[in-house]
Amino acid sequence: MSPTRVLVTGGAGFIGSHLAERLLADGHEVVVIDDESTGRRENVPAGAEYIRGDVALASELAPAFERFGPIDAVCHVAGRASLIRSFSDPVGDLRTNTLGTLRVIGQCLRHRVGRLLYASSMTVYAGAESVGPSEDTSCAPISYYGVTKYAGERYVHATAARRDLEVPLNVTTFRMYSVYGPRQALDNPYQGVLGIFLGNLVRGEPMRIFGDGLQTRDFIYVADVVDAWARALANSVTYGQIYNLGSGRERTILDLAEQALAAMDQLSGGAGLASGRIVHELARPGEQRRVEARIDKLRAALGWEPATAFERGLAQTIAWVQATQDPGVDES
Ligand SMILES: NC(=O)c1ccc[n+]([C@@H]2O[C@H](COP(=O)([O-])OP(=O)(O)OC[C@H]3O[C@@H](n4cnc5c(N)ncnc54)[C@H](O)[C@@H]3O)[C@@H](O)[C@H]2O)c1
Repeated sequence: MSPTRVLVTGGAGFIGSHLAERLLADGHEVVVIDDESTGRRENVPAGAEYIRGDVALASELAPAFERFGPIDAVCHVAGRASLIRSFSDPVGDLRTNTLGTLRVIGQCLRHRVGRLLYASSMTVYAGAESVGPSEDTSCAPISYYGVTKYAGERYVHATAARRDLEVPLNVTTFRMYSVYGPRQALDNPYQGVLGIFLGNLVRGEPMRIFGDGLQTRDFIYVADVVDAWARALANSVTYGQIYNLGSGRERTILDLAEQALAAMDQLSGGAGLASGRIVHELARPGEQRRVEARIDKLRAALGWEPATAFERGLAQTIAWVQATQDPGVDES
């Protein structure tokens, strides 16, 4: 496929920076916009064009569509990814996740961009047990975060259904589960449980588990996530479709903590990083008990597989953690 210019919103963040890297490796030109609220400039790969800007402001978003030449496709990854912060700052969550998405759609229409991929979340399903919902399960998110991600999703697909557009917008949504890997935040207590645990271990703090730790989540390695996005980009089979994007396997939070502790111990080679331990605190009300993705639709559409075994993904994440703790080591 000939190189396409792809705009990655949120490309200074965890998932967006991996996606930008992968698209560059596939021969695409990449433009990144990010407001650096949780992302970092140094995460943006060297080959990408970069604009610092807020996707919720049309005046800051428009240059990303104009400055470097026509955009052929947009991967809209920018978002506030914290369920907890969605309750403490619901207006900020709404602004970035829903208004930001509407702004991105607006610029796509204005600049006749025909392709948009959207980062949604498994939180759109909700419910106390969320084992294996298919994509056509009705959505009733209970977190404010889930509400704003779902609203964004509906705007994206409602735009795709419009018949009054000169250039139709071909859209694809990924409902991602718990993504982990290098560059996930270690210092953000509101985002990504593995990053929180690894940050605890690095700082010698205890890992806090709410309840018995037997609640499960579906952890998917970031390289497998961006592999699905990259495969879908130019594949018309995915137009108009929504896909669950997880590993298809549930894992308990207790197991995650124990594996992180053991792997950190082993890989630190006695450097004393894994000085933390596990403590249990009161269970949080409303927390989902079991979460596991059903991924047969994505497998069938793209021949995609979650290829990274958890142990390998964890080892790669910890190797990155160690490199970032040692300023003498190049993390690349
Ligand atoms: N990490 C996960 O497990 C997960 C799961 C499901 C969905 N998601 C979604 O994937 C996306 C990326 O999440 P992530 O884990 O990489 O988080 P992240 O915080 O590392 O990345 C989000 C990026 O968006 C940027 N951003 C935030 N608000 C912005 C704004 N108004 N304008 C421009 N840039 C803005 C941030 O600076 C950051 O670089 C989010 O939309 C999130 O809702 C993540």
